[in-house]
Amino acid sequence: MTNPHKIAVIGGDGIGPEVIAEGLKVLAVVAERHRIAYETVEYPFGTDHWLATGGEQGGETLPDSVFKQIHDDCDAVLLGAIGDPRAPVGLVEHGVIMTLRVGLDLFVNLRPVKLYDERLCPLKDKTCADVDMVFVRENTEDAYTAKPTFEDKGTPDEVASQPMRYTRQGTERVIRYAFELAVKRNRSNKLLMIDKANAVRAQDLWTRTFAEVGEEFPGIERDHAYIDAACMWMLKNPEWFDVSVTTNLFGDIITDVGAMLQGGLGIAASGNIHPGRVSLFEPIHGSAPKYKNQGKANPVASIMAVSMMLDHLGHRDVAVEIEDTISRLLISNAIKSLSAGVQSTSEIGDLVAEALAG
Ligand code: IPM
Ligand code: MG
Repeated sequence: MTNPHKIAVIGGDGIGPEVIAEGLKVLAVVAERHRIAYETVEYPFGTDHWLATGGEQGGETLPDSVFKQIHDDCDAVLLGAIGDPRAPVGLVEHGVIMTLRVGLDLFVNLRPVKLYDERLCPLKDKTCADVDMVFVRENTEDAYTAKPTFEDKGTPDEVASQPMRYTRQGTERVIRYAFELAVKRNRSNKLLMIDKANAVRAQDLWTRTFAEVGEEFPGIERDHAYIDAACMWMLKNPEWFDVSVTTNLFGDIITDVGAMLQGGLGIAASGNIHPGRVSLFEPIHGSAPKYKNQGKANPVASIMAVSMMLDHLGHRDVAVEIEDTISRLLISNAIKSLSAGVQSTSEIGDLVAEALAG
């Protein structure tokens, strides 16, 4: 990590820039209090930029030169959200998010699911102690990065495919990370692997790798669930979950279920991580274009992303302080809701910043 830390900031589309501004407000306050030196470099990438630079006629998503700057010079990237109906589905998402995830080899998508205030949980009779888990989602393989093909496109005989592709190295490193995390958390000392190896036999690679890597961690019990059952158990008995590891596509889906258990997308954050290298932090929610520039979006998830980023940069105590502060503000009802429009974006940012300023 460099000193000062270098942080690339990409607000992105829709509400992204507004919520990230509040995250940066909070960062400025804790950095000053804890004497953390940092510099930010703001980038304009997203759909507006793509349109302004030509759109369908060669518009820019993330230029190679900027990718290189981030790769060579930065410690972290803070990303708002990408997605806007003015661009073809997935184009800017791929150009920015997937380029960074894959290009920077951010093989872990870390998604904590923690309930801070009981009233936010949609499940009956579940307490904060019941919802405290973390998902380690593989982030560089699977159908996400396999090539789509279309044969006989547009005809009645069309065949489309995009294989679920896994490598031993890619599988092994994310599973090892998850075991190490289970050791570090020291909670249930159990690691749950979630897959669908009964139907997708290619995932036998995950089954074997999990067993083999698990031998290196005798203190961690190995558990297994198929993705369909895991979704069911998460809603029925969330208290059974601690650390889980899963594939990219299943991880995408189950972590949205997880976000609902902790109060919705308004609070869920994630880290796209390569340990020891530049990593990317973002709220899980999307760009919600309908709320753009209205000051209605709730910035809590972005502030949580800043907390995760600080943890990655070596400031665990400060990360926990932000988390605890948000938790207190929710429990005391100072933050009244995680839905858009109840309090303004900057009002929530100010509340958190003032509470942290002491
Ligand atoms: C997420 C998002 C992305 C994903 C999209 C925007 C490509 O849903 O970060 O979970 O599927 O990974
Ligand atoms: Mg998702």
